[in-house]
Amino acid sequence: MSVPRRLFVTTALPYANGNFHIGHIMEYIQADIWVRYQRMQGAEVNFVGADDAHGAPIMIAAEKAGKTPQQFVADIAAGRKPYLDGFHIAFDNWHSTDGPENHALARQIYLDLKKAGLIATRVVEQFFDPEKNMFLPDRFIKGECPNCHAKDQYGDNCEVCGAVYAPTDLIKPYSALSGVTPVLKSSEHFFFQLSDPRCVKFLEDWVQGNDDMDGKPRLQPEVVNKVKEWFSVRTHPDGSTSEGLGDWDISRDAPYFGIEIPDAPGKYFYVWLDAPIGYLASLKNLLEKRGQSYDDYMADPALEQYHFIGKDIVTFHTLFWPAMLHFSGRKTPNKVFVHGFLTVNNGEKMSKSRGTGLDPLKYLSLGMNPEWLRYYLAAKLNGRNEDIDFNADDFMARVNSDLIGKYINIASRAAGFISKRFGGKLGTPGDDGSTLLQLLRNETPVIAQAYDARDTARVTRTAMYLADRVNEYVDANKPWELAKKEGAEARLHDVCTVCIEAFRLLTLYLKPVLPALAASVESFLNIAPLSFADAARPLGTGHVIGNYKHLMQRVDVKQLDALFEAPALAEPEQSATESVVPGGEALAPMIGIDDFARIDLRIAKIVHCEAVEGSTKLLRLTLDVGEGVDPQGSPILRNVFSGIAGAYKPQDLIGQLTVMVANLAPRKMKFGVSEGMVLAASHFDEKKQPGIYVLHPWAGAQPGLRVR
Ligand code: 2FM
Ligand code: ZN
Repeated sequence: MSVPRRLFVTTALPYANGNFHIGHIMEYIQADIWVRYQRMQGAEVNFVGADDAHGAPIMIAAEKAGKTPQQFVADIAAGRKPYLDGFHIAFDNWHSTDGPENHALARQIYLDLKKAGLIATRVVEQFFDPEKNMFLPDRFIKGECPNCHAKDQYGDNCEVCGAVYAPTDLIKPYSALSGVTPVLKSSEHFFFQLSDPRCVKFLEDWVQGNDDMDGKPRLQPEVVNKVKEWFSVRTHPDGSTSEGLGDWDISRDAPYFGIEIPDAPGKYFYVWLDAPIGYLASLKNLLEKRGQSYDDYMADPALEQYHFIGKDIVTFHTLFWPAMLHFSGRKTPNKVFVHGFLTVNNGEKMSKSRGTGLDPLKYLSLGMNPEWLRYYLAAKLNGRNEDIDFNADDFMARVNSDLIGKYINIASRAAGFISKRFGGKLGTPGDDGSTLLQLLRNETPVIAQAYDARDTARVTRTAMYLADRVNEYVDANKPWELAKKEGAEARLHDVCTVCIEAFRLLTLYLKPVLPALAASVESFLNIAPLSFADAARPLGTGHVIGNYKHLMQRVDVKQLDALFEAPALAEPEQSATESVVPGGEALAPMIGIDDFARIDLRIAKIVHCEAVEGSTKLLRLTLDVGEGVDPQGSPILRNVFSGIAGAYKPQDLIGQLTVMVANLAPRKMKFGVSEGMVLAASHFDEKKQPGIYVLHPWAGAQPGLRVR
């Protein structure tokens, strides 16, 4: 037995400021298929992900939500599982770049780079928001475009004319956070000196070089061409020129949600410095949970490291990241796999309320099979850095006609006869059947090679080509006629046996794409989990299979209609024709009385109320819910934050009764712990219909009474 390959595989770490969209899911499915394939070839794989928790946008979003950044990212992390489980994406670990492993590793890598003489400091002038007391990231500075004079453009580029500029070039700049005019302020920044000749030389070789493990290029050719541009002095179409690789600004000033730089109080690593280190941190976290040594694992010269990423973050992964690793004395990735973007229904621009057009959770909630999407995406992805389009009609055709019509049907056409006529026992393929099965088996190396190159389009194409050959065989032999013909018993047994073996082979070929389906097939065929080596081990004569159970439903066009139906909150231009939606949102799914009973609503008296310093939205309420007094004789009161500061003055609320959720788990917010929630009504789109109305019981209600 040869030693199994050891692989460490990652997908890009998503920012912890929103739910997954279909683009994330596509990348995870692509990587998951590859990982499952490698495992079917006997490799030992650690496949990890994590939330990219740091950076100014997340810090600002957390503040807006009235949460600590830690609570904010924890809440986002808590929502990841339904997506990953739902689409059978089997990460071995999901961690966070704010985890202790990442803090330690980022500092260590930085110190190693410093020791290598590649860290420098320089004073930088930047826009500063005097009201918020912070340096502004480019995206939080807006103003008039210096080129086309469009108003309200971002600090780094104009969305109207496409011009790229520095925030200081903006006319009448203002802070997107406070609205005030920013001032220029200088501050010391830390730089990773990528312009150092050692780095330039290393990177020039690295991006064009081969993976020493298999001797193949580390990067796709289209990626190398793009990245190479960074090494030369370039002339842009507009005549301007840019230098080669510049030094990289890796520090940000407090306040910043990130990792503090060693021996530099108030300075933090720029989020893109610690983000890829999060790959290592998630791996370390996984290995330590298993009691394995991270250092030993990484020191294994046979370890292979692969990153799946989108085309928008190529520079970070093919320049900064390998340089960080190499010059800190670490192993660089064997390959970086870049994919394009996913557009939906011909790249049709989706309105804001429709998001990117295909909501993964909505897909699942409509009862759509996750493996339809896995199959469809696999059929489109070819391992190149190209955009692909999700097209509803194409999706339906590929799932219903190919996946079900060609492949699944092979089993349903043969299995019944094997069970009913031959007690589930397989027979012996005849000469023509053996030839057909050999044709299928000959494709094993083709399929394997295609998986390895992430060319799953070729995998599905090959599988469908083979399924066509099997169906031709079925049509030529007509088992349903053989079943009625006297003396054709042996031929029926032979033909159906060939079909079952062909189906087993096709299932094996598609297993990385369709893991749940493959598991059902394995159980129906009464076999151990299929690995690639099983292609050469046919089911023997006399093997007993189980009863065929329906394996997969067809896509119903109604599901696709529902998937792309605009959500309840209609766009203004559509609202005239939309049906009436109460309060701007559709009713939540039906619940039973037991579900309602789990929410404990109580009458509460607002004994105190005050503004919250640092928040324009929140009020701090002190509530009496009739819980009596503590052993010291002080009344037991609840502290609750409520986003009603825009609608009520504290003095108007003191002494009033309201309704609160009394059994909501306490939540740590930026300003303290909230021990419940006060009920208030508002329109789904507060901009459209402003107003928040706190609930108020009729006279006579007492604190502590339950609302039911
Ligand atoms: O572009 C993004 O969504 C980043 N959060 C990706 C980070 S990948 C890695 F470096 F962590
Ligand atoms: Zn412009």
